[in-house]
Amino acid sequence: MRAAPTILHLDMDAFFAAAEQASKPSLRGKPVIVGGLGPRGVVATASYEARRFGVHSAMPMGQARRLAPNAAYLVPRFSFYRSISEQVMELLGRLSPLVEPLSLDEAFVDLEAGGVADDTASARTAGERLRVDILATTGLTGSVGLAGSKMIAKIASEEAKPDGLVLIEPGTERELLAPRSVRILPGVGPATGEHLRRAGMTTVSDLAEAGEDELVRLLGRAHGTSLYLMAQGYDDRPVVAERDAKSVSVEDTFDVDLHDRVRIRGEVERLAERCVGRLRASGHSGRTIVLKVRRFDFSTLTRSETLRGPTDDPAVVREAAGRLLEAVDTTGGVRLLGVGVSGLADYTQEDLFAQAEAAAALAEGAAGGSGAAGAARAAGDGTAAAAAAGSAAAGVAGVAGVSAVSAVEPAVDEAVERQRHWAPGNDVRHAVFGAGWVQGSGVGRVTVRFEEPGSEPGRVRTFAVDDPDLEPGEALPLVEGGA
Ligand code: TTP
Ligand code: MG
Repeated sequence: MRAAPTILHLDMDAFFAAAEQASKPSLRGKPVIVGGLGPRGVVATASYEARRFGVHSAMPMGQARRLAPNAAYLVPRFSFYRSISEQVMELLGRLSPLVEPLSLDEAFVDLEAGGVADDTASARTAGERLRVDILATTGLTGSVGLAGSKMIAKIASEEAKPDGLVLIEPGTERELLAPRSVRILPGVGPATGEHLRRAGMTTVSDLAEAGEDELVRLLGRAHGTSLYLMAQGYDDRPVVAERDAKSVSVEDTFDVDLHDRVRIRGEVERLAERCVGRLRASGHSGRTIVLKVRRFDFSTLTRSETLRGPTDDPAVVREAAGRLLEAVDTTGGVRLLGVGVSGLADYTQEDLFAQAEAAAALAEGAAGGSGAAGAARAAGDGTAAAAAAGSAAAGVAGVAGVSAVSAVEPAVDEAVERQRHWAPGNDVRHAVFGAGWVQGSGVGRVTVRFEEPGSEPGRVRTFAVDDPDLEPGEALPLVEGGA
């Protein structure tokens, strides 16, 4: 806890939807919903205009369509959002060496460590200037919270939404928290919230009054103690900057959810090979193989297996990732897969020899087992440690700079490929009419609205899906000279 409000929390407003509205002038001020448009699709986010109808993140798309039938429904354009995110993170990096990204659109910044603020006035000035710079650079708004701790800074930015800044003076935390729902505290999800409610505690002051012993009895030592501290407004967690790469990973997001187990397995193996390519390029080997799976409903899980020694053998990593996949339920569909290697070690000749020996020994002894599989067993035998992490942790890893994210090129047949190009929201270019985006398609036709970030709202034209003048287009920068 600090005496000055120099911990900043930034969260972009309705990020994906705002990026779409900025790209597509005809959608500004209108309800816009971004997410999976298939039968099992869920809402990624909704513009503030759409939230008035009750639509929110993670809601099934069918329900959203019933609540807001006249909204614009668009598929996400992840690489576009990623490029905006990079611009935002770059601005944060100018404020301080201590920037902790939590997701594409959210981060903590330690202003004191950056030397840009050491009291209330300088912190407010830095926060206001950041909001101006973000708007000028990206064309989008973000909300800023400033406080003496991470917990309170995050609550402050929530309070500031949309397009605002809230500063909470150190010393006023308890009074701010007291009347709030227990759900405002980090780590209190629906289940814990319900548990506490049944024990008669609904507000943060109820927790503070119940006392530490009571909370420990209810929730166990670790959770009870930390909740008691947070209820007092106490939070001493430091802002943790991106560290040097401690792992190498690759991941792919699929525009169409994958359902076929064989296909999923094939993608995991391909990712494993690409991951090893990067691992080798960075001059490393690694001990822990990590598989990340984001399912159709955005629930994300990671599984890992630790080998006895470091490896950079593609077959070993491929096999380990495949084994990890066996334990993951993929019914319902998979939207993202990732394979990583952590526990990096500098590559040594000894590793090489040890690996070669193990592989040779197994190839000799094993009947029918391939050398590669044998080596995997040799390295992994008996030491496999599966670990599951919640989506929050996985999300952090995804943008913390330790993973190399790449756009996906799934091998889909031509018809699916074509359909994918004409998904609502996608960029197109017409030889005569120029840049536009798909407003809708069906029965062999595609309707395109021709407009660009800086243009007036454009008009709509309809073409045959195989019109040779119509091609998939590029995302255009929101701001002149921007991403
Ligand atoms: P959030 O910051 O949680 O939401 P938001 O930026 O859309 O809106 P707010 O103004 O309330 O901050 O998430 C950032 C982006 O992450 C969001 O635009 C879309 C994506 N996302 C999903 O894809 N699925 C989800 O369930 C959530 C919560 C977010
Ligand atoms: Mg946000």
